[in-house]
Amino acid sequence: MSTRTEQMAERRNRHVPRGVASLTPLFIARAEGALLTDVDGREYIDFAGGIGVNNVGHRHPKVLAAIQEQLAAYVHPCFHVMMYEPYIQLAERLNQLVPCRGEKKTMFANSGAESVENAVKIARHHTRRPGVICFDNAFHERTLLAMTLTSKVRPYKWHLGAMAPAVHRAHFPYCYRCPWGLAYPRCQVRCGEEYFEEDFFKHHVDPEEVAAIILEPVQGEGGFITPPPEYLDQIRRVCDRHGILLLVDEVQTGFGRTGKFFATEHFGVEADIITSAKSLAAGLPLGAVTGTAKIMDSVHPGGLGGTYGGNPLACRAALAVLDIMEADKFLARAEELGRRVRAELMNLYNTYEVIGEVRGLGAMLALELVKDRASRKPAADQAKGLTAFCREHGLIILDCGTLGNNIRTLMPLTITPEQLAKGLGILEAGLRHLAA
Ligand SMILES: Cc1ncc(COP(=O)(O)O)c(C=O)c1O
Repeated sequence: MSTRTEQMAERRNRHVPRGVASLTPLFIARAEGALLTDVDGREYIDFAGGIGVNNVGHRHPKVLAAIQEQLAAYVHPCFHVMMYEPYIQLAERLNQLVPCRGEKKTMFANSGAESVENAVKIARHHTRRPGVICFDNAFHERTLLAMTLTSKVRPYKWHLGAMAPAVHRAHFPYCYRCPWGLAYPRCQVRCGEEYFEEDFFKHHVDPEEVAAIILEPVQGEGGFITPPPEYLDQIRRVCDRHGILLLVDEVQTGFGRTGKFFATEHFGVEADIITSAKSLAAGLPLGAVTGTAKIMDSVHPGGLGGTYGGNPLACRAALAVLDIMEADKFLARAEELGRRVRAELMNLYNTYEVIGEVRGLGAMLALELVKDRASRKPAADQAKGLTAFCREHGLIILDCGTLGNNIRTLMPLTITPEQLAKGLGILEAGLRHLAA
């Protein structure tokens, strides 16, 4: 007799296109905190968090209570038809928190991709310029503009063009594989101001035609690539010199993942526009675009919006997330979790040659796997093997990276010490298995 998983897989394969890829062959029955249970009753420690969505854990009681309370009142009047307080309340609270310049305003969308699309529209309208600069290893999603901004060709762009116009791609400070072959700090951050002023603006696009530079403060899908501390400030200066807007995509890095509300705060700069989504609403589809009020207000009425953007249930979930994160030293504990995970990953680095680098910020950490430390040849097969081993032994952990050779941690920040220890133990067993 086939298992429930096998039965569901058969139906899934018959009715759902393969393009909507699934990273594991599993089907979920229940989730709680950092624990997942599949339809055949197997339990897994969750180091994926629905790809960075569950920073407060699956089914946090305060989030569930807020959604239930909202269900009892109304579900969807549509903000364009009849406005509601949760939308406004959430905008007020994000405007207090998001590290953008001056007075701020926020609009809501349904996803990270939609937030990115809107952010670029707003930047173009405000500057009356068409160009957007994005980066190697960037990931902003699969809609037309976001796909164009995304770097990785397979699977995201392959035969899926034509791409959107006026998008220009720059090198990102991937220090482990520096595009200039330099080493930090001796490089004096060659990838920053000097690169844009002396090279990029001469070879690719004139700064007067650029509306925005869009970057992830830690590149997520691209491999948790973390720029040097000075980098964002240098990009801020480039933007200011040329009237370009700095658009920071915090969809994956936001809401406590790096130990601060927003990763931008680590770099001591303020953006013009910041996009967020994922852990903002703990699993309900919600994206936000927050920016300097004057910029956000430049677009005429009707130029922004959509049927579901800022759905009341999602706004209530997000308000609960903010309550959770502002109480009980949540961020301090997230920072502590990051320190603990980094220390454990460094122990693994000291033992297993397959790990070329440990990097990231806070609890947003990755292992870059290599064939050997001298050649740094990417070890994508080993990354696949490691995630499969972990899954078979009760840990869900994802790979990432343009070269497919990084293993990333996106566990709920509420994970218990016992669950964390168990998950890390399985990861180590997987590395031992690879080394055998
Ligand atoms: C940095 C970044 N931007 C945008 C997105 C797109 O978000 P969504 O999948 O909600 O559209 C993602 C998703 O992984 C992301 O990591």
